[in-house]
Amino acid sequence: MTNKDQKDMNYYQKMAIDHMYVGMTNQTLMAEEGGPLVMESSDGIYINDLEGNRYIDGISGMYFRNVGHGQNIISKAIYEQLNSVSMNVYSGITPKSAELAKKISEITPGDLSRTFFCQGGSEANESSLKLAQAFHVRNGEKGRYKIISRKGSYHGSTYGTMWLGGHPGFPRTDYQPKPLNVITVPHPHFYRDEFGSKSPEENAINSAQAIEDSIIFEGAESVSAVIGEPVSQPLGGILPHESYWPLVREICDKYGVLLIFDEVITGFGRLGEWFGANLVKTTPDIMSFAKGVTSGYFPLGGTVSTKKVSNAFAGGPEKVWSHMYTYSAHPAGAAAALANLKIVEENDLVENAKLRGLQISEKLIEMKEKYKIIGDVRGVGLIQGIEFVEDRDSKKHFHSSVGLNKLLTDELRKRGVWIRVPAFILPIAPPLTINADQTEELCSIIDESIAVVNKKLS
Ligand SMILES: Cc1ncc(COP(=O)(O)O)c(C=O)c1O
Repeated sequence: MTNKDQKDMNYYQKMAIDHMYVGMTNQTLMAEEGGPLVMESSDGIYINDLEGNRYIDGISGMYFRNVGHGQNIISKAIYEQLNSVSMNVYSGITPKSAELAKKISEITPGDLSRTFFCQGGSEANESSLKLAQAFHVRNGEKGRYKIISRKGSYHGSTYGTMWLGGHPGFPRTDYQPKPLNVITVPHPHFYRDEFGSKSPEENAINSAQAIEDSIIFEGAESVSAVIGEPVSQPLGGILPHESYWPLVREICDKYGVLLIFDEVITGFGRLGEWFGANLVKTTPDIMSFAKGVTSGYFPLGGTVSTKKVSNAFAGGPEKVWSHMYTYSAHPAGAAAALANLKIVEENDLVENAKLRGLQISEKLIEMKEKYKIIGDVRGVGLIQGIEFVEDRDSKKHFHSSVGLNKLLTDELRKRGVWIRVPAFILPIAPPLTINADQTEELCSIIDESIAVVNKKLS
């Protein structure tokens, strides 16, 4: 125990097992695992549990802690804000939320310039989808209500967003049926190409073509938007070939369909660029963001749109966008975001993410040469991933009864790295503050852990 005054881990674990729904697990599994990790404190890239164990946070909490843990400048900004103006009033604003909206318009590409604020990523995407459909209505195209998303993507857990994309880590079997407005197309994922493409470029062209085909099949006049993450995380850092997003942009423009980027994870420096949009050289009409905007020090998300979109809502009362949340544009969230973005800028964290990403990529390639359970390694900046397979030729995954994810999670944990491995992908996404030595240490621990699992499963 690092703090003698506190009760031990078991005390809180039991409370959680008896009284909490904890995300994507249940009371039985928590009990079998000996209870969830109870965090006591955190600093830099490290988290400390109540038993005095210290771990490198290998996935930044859940891809949000861009500026690292223990940034007192941000907590102080929140405290000071709550002590002055602690919330706005209906249809009012606060100085900090206006300043943040201006800041976001300055750092996002193109003329993305008007932001609606909410509390997190799912709400941000929900808002983006509503904004897109309302935009079409303002333009006299009431019939555009369908959304095209890509298999393997994740856009949130609310009743609407959960149906977009889809991947094994987030089953939706309890919530059937799938709504009629959701169209799903293949992901531009060359390693698991669905078209028989011979190269990443061919895969990109085929994947973009699949979007065009589905727009034509559904009837362009019924399609509202295409949504996707510029680089997708759930299947392990998928960066499509450089031709993909510009092609998708062209297709959307050709058919009057809006392009929405979900930058909930990719935004604010994680890819070694301020936004995924910069990396893939494509500006969307609407961009959702959350997580890295405050590094999780306060729940905040938002959707920012171009002038083409926002101008559709200017005019008399009939033009108003009918959408709000009670806690939109919370001043404490805005204060946290401004302080957080200052840290990103002053410490050159965007550049650091690029360099550390290259360092990790090199190590992952070495690991792939050594361990035959690794099928593919991929990623960019600080969204990297390793995909495990039972057999490299067939690319077949290990059966879930093998428990590869638990084996690997345990080996990592024993050696001081906290990454819960979901299914067959090891995600690697440390805070952007990680330095070269810490990156080396993180990679060595991953290497040693995979060596053990590789031996066990071979
Ligand atoms: C790409 C992406 N979009 C949306 C979300 C949903 O965000 P939240 O959990 O804050 O609602 C997530 C969450 O992990 C995400 O990764």
